[in-house]
Amino acid sequence: MPFLSDTLARVKPSPTIAVTTKAQALKAAGKDVIGLGAGEPDFDTPQNIKDAAKRAIDAGRTKYTAVDGIPELKAAICAKFLRENGLTYSPSQITVGTGGKQTLYNALMATCNPGDEVIIPAPYWVSYPDMVLLAGGTPVAVVAGIDTAFKITPDQLEAAITPKTKWFIFNSPSNPTGAGYTRDELRGLCDVLLRHPHVWIMSDDMYEHLVFGDFEFCTPAEIEPALYDRTLTCNGVSKSYAMTGWRIGYAAGPVALIRAMGTIQSQSTSNPCSVSQYAALEALTGPQEFLAENRKVFERRRDLVVSMLNAAKGVTCPNPEGAFYVYPDISACIGKVTAGGTLITDDEVFATALLEETGVAVVFGAAFGLSPNFRVSYATADEVLREACSRIQAFCAALT
Ligand SMILES: Cc1ncc(COP(=O)(O)O)c(C=O)c1O
Repeated sequence: MPFLSDTLARVKPSPTIAVTTKAQALKAAGKDVIGLGAGEPDFDTPQNIKDAAKRAIDAGRTKYTAVDGIPELKAAICAKFLRENGLTYSPSQITVGTGGKQTLYNALMATCNPGDEVIIPAPYWVSYPDMVLLAGGTPVAVVAGIDTAFKITPDQLEAAITPKTKWFIFNSPSNPTGAGYTRDELRGLCDVLLRHPHVWIMSDDMYEHLVFGDFEFCTPAEIEPALYDRTLTCNGVSKSYAMTGWRIGYAAGPVALIRAMGTIQSQSTSNPCSVSQYAALEALTGPQEFLAENRKVFERRRDLVVSMLNAAKGVTCPNPEGAFYVYPDISACIGKVTAGGTLITDDEVFATALLEETGVAVVFGAAFGLSPNFRVSYATADEVLREACSRIQAFCAALT
């Protein structure tokens, strides 16, 4: 009898974490490495949020809480949805988990049966397909290339839906491309979903606050109220409030689904960290000004990275609407040889050679379901980004 489970055999460890680990090992060995792999803001958590956590500790808020969140936080989440998205939810429609990742995972675990299909636009966040597989479902990738700015079309969605489709996962702005769907583009997808009442929508709005220029964030339940009863609207404080380590995410949806997700959570992790819940409460109810300040910093960095990467030979870098990622195309680099003598056969070889020859760590596109590309996370200081992009330019200029 094998010791390890068949479930484990279906999934792989996160490739983004693998790149970060390799970069750290090279750094430890004394190499000058710039990591552009990690998906987290470089800003510190705002002081008012940290202070709220300290107060919670001193007040003894250190015990188990209700499994899927304290009432005060659920109320604050309801207020956030009304204020920012025009969506009305009651506290019984809210669940709070240990990061956005856990809420998505709970939803899939609570609903997927063998044979159930989950439509995932590609390029996708690395965890979606593997979470679907862990839950026993079948991921169905729908690829959107650079020609449609990494956004799927209504026709593509229509063609991917079968009687077995359980969920459509929607993520805008997207990890890894930064692509954001306009209201009209989302309207087109909603019209398709209206024709298929058996399909549920999981909208992952994690990068809601990180949008640039005059781009307006939108989410399916707001665009099409008729989808409200089969939409799980997911969000969290990790990216917007620079709180990745606190591990608080949340979701809103129909009561029966929220209850089912709570059952999964009650038998796995129980409540999310009590202190972190009070910190998240302050994040959602305290001053919000720094969101706009952070947005400005990220927009400046996006502009810097997009212009410098487009100046690299063989690299085409679209200008995304949000998040803190860009996803340049490197088709023109495939088949070339690096200064160090490596033949670039695919984007994984490109990323490995880039790391070994220049010390710049990026994540190769195959990990996200579209090649040949790589993902840059620009959530780091401007001067570091400038140096990293100069090295990428030199690396590409030397390709023969
Ligand atoms: C699209 C997307 N959804 C969800 C998450 C998970 O966020 P959290 O750290 O709150 O679990 C991430 C984190 O990288 C993400 O990129």
